This record gives sequence, C-alpha cells and structure tokens, in this order.
Amino acid sequence: MAQYTIKVNGKSLQVEVDADTPMLWVLRDHLKLLGTKFGCGIGQCGACTIHFDGVATRSCLIPISAVGESPITTIEGLSEEYNHPIQKAWLAHDVPQCGYCQSGQMMNAASLLKQNPNPSDKEIEAAMHGNICRCGTYIRIKAAIKTAAKG
Ligand code: FES
Ligand code: FES
Repeated sequence: MAQYTIKVNGKSLQVEVDADTPMLWVLRDHLKLLGTKFGCGIGQCGACTIHFDGVATRSCLIPISAVGESPITTIEGLSEEYNHPIQKAWLAHDVPQCGYCQSGQMMNAASLLKQNPNPSDKEIEAAMHGNICRCGTYIRIKAAIKTAAKG
C-alpha cells in the first residue's frame, strides 16, 4: 500500500491503496463516487468512462500509480449545476432506460464534443462505438449528442 494524492473533480484527495489498484475502484470504493460504473473491468464496455487529463478514458484500465498530477473528472464533476449541454440534451431526449451505462455514455459524449464540437453522424458513431448499452438507447444517445452540439 502507498499513499497517493490525486485531483478528482477539482479537489485534491488522498487515498491509500496498492499501486496497481484501478482508478475505477479508487473512485467507487475509496472515494464513494458511485456514478462511475463497473461493467466488464477489461476496457470493453465503456461503463467506467471518466475524463483523464480531459480525455475520455476507461477508469478500469488506469492503475492509480499512473495518475500522477493529471486531473480526473467523473460524472459527478461534469457540471456543478447539472447544466452541461450533454446533461441537458440527455434530459430533453429522455435517453436513459435502466441507466447503468449512461454515465459512461455521457462522459464519452462530452469528451467527443470537446474535441469536435460539431460531429457528423459517422463521427458520433465512431466515437461512441465502444460504449455498450444493453438497453439499446443508441438512437436517443445519437440524437442527444446532436442536440448538445447545437448548444
Ligand atoms: S468496466 Fe471499464 S470498460 Fe467496462
Ligand atoms: S440504459 Fe440500460 S444499459 Fe444503457
């Protein structure tokens, strides 16, 4: 075990964990940020997506020892007032069904729009491809991203 200081949602936080502990477990078990979900644990589903240094990243694949000074944002930190364009569009399109995959979907979509504010259908499909939704909300997700892109 070692002590790590990490930056999560704008706060500097300390945790004592093994060096190979994935950030997914640091967030959920140690920091009680439960919005980030465990789906597969092997980088294949997208449920655990966070922003790492501003880019959508699978938190199940990042050991805490690799985090260093890089800021992390989880769904809880996407916006303080729940008014990020992605959050507003998700509500407007009533996107979630069971909801399990949705924090990962939203974090991935927010990262996409940061890099590409006006993505084409094909670019949305390519960027969102790895985020699995067992409820099949893909059509609403795409519509919501297009709404969010319009501002
Ligand atoms: S839990 Fe990380 S990609 Fe599935
Ligand atoms: S809303 Fe149920 S898994 Fe996506």
